[in-house]
Amino acid sequence: MPAPKSILDLKSLSREQIQILFSRAQALHLQPEPTNFAGQTAALLFFEASTRTRFSFESACHRTGLGPLVLDGAKGTSLEKGETLEDTVLNMAAMNPSVMIIRSGKDFPLPQIAERLQMPVINAGWGAYGHPTQALLDALTLKQEFNDLDKLKVLFVGDIRHSRVVASHFELLEKLGAEVGLSGPEEFLIDRPGTHLFKRLEEGLEWCDAVMALRVQFERHGSQPMMNKDEYRAQFGLTRHKVTHHLRPKGVILHPGPINYGIEMDQEVLTDSRNRVLRQVSNGVVLREALIRSLLEGRL
Ligand code: CP
Repeated sequence: MPAPKSILDLKSLSREQIQILFSRAQALHLQPEPTNFAGQTAALLFFEASTRTRFSFESACHRTGLGPLVLDGAKGTSLEKGETLEDTVLNMAAMNPSVMIIRSGKDFPLPQIAERLQMPVINAGWGAYGHPTQALLDALTLKQEFNDLDKLKVLFVGDIRHSRVVASHFELLEKLGAEVGLSGPEEFLIDRPGTHLFKRLEEGLEWCDAVMALRVQFERHGSQPMMNKDEYRAQFGLTRHKVTHHLRPKGVILHPGPINYGIEMDQEVLTDSRNRVLRQVSNGVVLREALIRSLLEGRL
């Protein structure tokens, strides 16, 4: 398989390459690597809001020695004067960063732009199409708990239709041999062969080893009607009662963040001993560092 120039999705990464990334990320938790890329830069272009992804990539850059050039929304940039996103990317690329990390909406032509650039591009969340590094860090978190993801049962709950995280997990978890379950209101479900559908969340919780609650993506719904929020919480929210009575004692609770408390997850579930939401965030730093290093070293 040829070395991928960019990471726009997870289709082009083999199971072996993914395991190498996990091992390197795990090692970075224990032992920092030298800042081999001092004097080089990385462009972080976030055309949509972000906390975890942006700061973890920025942190990863500092750990490698790369100087991060961060665009955080339009404010203070020439986007405010009407410059296009495409021109912004091309101008930043002309400053020759070693890698471009881009978060953008669904209308941004990410693959076409990446094709025109000389440096690798990493998708940091693109519309509802994918969020590959989020899926990788989630899977690393599961690997730390269960060691092997083969046959692991992972349940996604909620706004599956609009979730780029789930889109990337379809590529990743199936490649790693995990079984995928889906539960949520009918308007948020999709028909995906090979997945297990659970009309009642309680049944899904009893089936799974790990459950990931998804953020309800109000900003992507347009005029699509949604179930009343209290009804949503009652049926599909991770409440203390549901996880106490239906999730196995060694189960794991995940959420990619940010969390709508009182809708897809209750605040008190954050302190459940099985909750790994903040571990996901820590893993984001080392996973993204491992990815940047491996890409720049031509090891992927
Ligand atoms: N999980 C995730 O992408 O979070 P942010 O939007 O804060 O980056």
